Amino acid sequence: MKKISKICCIGAGYVGGPTMAVIASKCPEIKVTVVDVNPERIARWNSDNLDELPVYEPGLKEVVAGARNRNLFFSTDVEQSIREAEMIFISVNTPTKTYGKGKGMAADLKYVELCARQIADVATEDKIIVEKSTLPVRTAQTIRTIMENCGKHINFQILSNPEFLAEGTAIADLQNADRVLIGGDRSTPEGREAIDALASIYEHWLSPDKILRTNLWSSELSKLTANAFLAQRVSSINSISALCEMTEADVDEVAGAIGADSRIGSKFLKASVGFGGSCFQKDILNLVYICKSLGLNDVAEYWQGVIDINNYQKRRFAEKIVTSLFNTVAGKKIAFLGWAFKKDTNDTRETAAMYVADYLLDETANITVYDPKVTQTQMLTDLNYLATREESKNSAMLHSVKDPYEACKDAHAVAILTEWDEFKGYDWQKIYDNMKKPAFVFDGRNIVDAEKLRNIGFKVSQIGK
Ligand code: NAD
Ligand code: UGA
Repeated sequence: MKKISKICCIGAGYVGGPTMAVIASKCPEIKVTVVDVNPERIARWNSDNLDELPVYEPGLKEVVAGARNRNLFFSTDVEQSIREAEMIFISVNTPTKTYGKGKGMAADLKYVELCARQIADVATEDKIIVEKSTLPVRTAQTIRTIMENCGKHINFQILSNPEFLAEGTAIADLQNADRVLIGGDRSTPEGREAIDALASIYEHWLSPDKILRTNLWSSELSKLTANAFLAQRVSSINSISALCEMTEADVDEVAGAIGADSRIGSKFLKASVGFGGSCFQKDILNLVYICKSLGLNDVAEYWQGVIDINNYQKRRFAEKIVTSLFNTVAGKKIAFLGWAFKKDTNDTRETAAMYVADYLLDETANITVYDPKVTQTQMLTDLNYLATREESKNSAMLHSVKDPYEACKDAHAVAILTEWDEFKGYDWQKIYDNMKKPAFVFDGRNIVDAEKLRNIGFKVSQIGK
């Protein structure tokens, strides 16, 4: 079997960094180099102060500290790393297109194509190219075509190895993966050898029965499908949360009751202000686009519904704040607890918080945010990205503070946007005492003890209750 001694990973982001750190920690005999075109990101991965790593994940610091500069390296020298590696992971971003054909729907594959062309330019020996990024089904064909036309007599094997980690639990997800999926060309000895070479890396710490082998297209499509199914569960329970609010049913009780059926299962049934994150929306939009391109309009419509319900849920939460505050939030201070798209991450991509903020800023509210891991600069970048109003207006109307009690002081309402554990343990009496009355709490994550807060005097609104 082909033995891998050097790995290159292109893209040092939320996936490339943690994934390679775990591979390096589990495979000390393999040199793993993570490269990126962003020198600031690489400098932060190399920082002596482990609190400055560009990605916050519980357990990541320890894994990086153990392997960095032993067999884990972060570098901006993309070409050198490609040249020396036998296996190259493509872990670059694949955002939704913001221009041209498929704008707002299709995945933008320009970074992936650039990687493929760079590998084709630089390589002088056989390479195994691994798609780690989430890609539309049949992208491997594009990569293969670029390689086959690079005019070199080199054997390139393309594998699909999508990543299933979730942010906030990335290290645990990688160390105890439910499964690893490897798609490749099983019809040739070289294809099978490449699949085995990749499998042998994961077999350093996962049992072989966790490694699933499929053809390339099944692997690529499974990743989009997995995210679509997960997001669909969240939208399903969120749709029911609206019905609960009108019928005195309690969505957490409904979720508990249906989740006890082993055919349904209990995970991903937590009603919320809406799902965020860099991938659910992007991947479903991509799925919808692929279906439409292939004339499967009914299938496209079905999955579009998952996004529509999510947008509805975010809007519904924001509208509830306005109607509860006597139909106006103009000039009122609203405190946000949380900005990240979920707890235990500093990632804010597509966070529900920015859409709720955007809605309230349209109503000319003043927002003060406390999030333990997100900076004010990042919050304003998120809002400015929506391009709803002038940037100067966003920075005049939204501020972030480092103390939750200060965020809530003199506020008319507190809105909980992220389920950070620390919010549950706050001194809510103190928060109440310092707020304007009536003091409202809008719990977009159903994490506070509503009964206790009501006894203090708060007017509490939760999702689906
Ligand atoms: P990211 O934006 O955090 O990181 C991507 C990195 O790639 C950036 O640092 C960027 O500078 C770099 N890059 C882009 N083009 C490059 C090039 N040509 N050469 C070198 N570096 C380049 O993205 P991410 O969250 O890590 O996601 C990467 C992929 O993994 C996406 O396809 C995403 O859908 C998928 N994915 C993400 C997650 C997640 O939790 N974030 C989980 C599973 C899968
Ligand atoms: C998700 C998938 O869970 C990963 O398997 C996948 O690899 C990843 O997308 C990806 O491809 O990027 P992630 O977005 O990091 O991971 O986080 P999730 O835990 O899935 O949460 C996504 C969003 O749904 C969050 O906003 C979360 O708060 C929300 N959510 C999740 C709910 O509102 N309710 C739930 O029950 C679960």
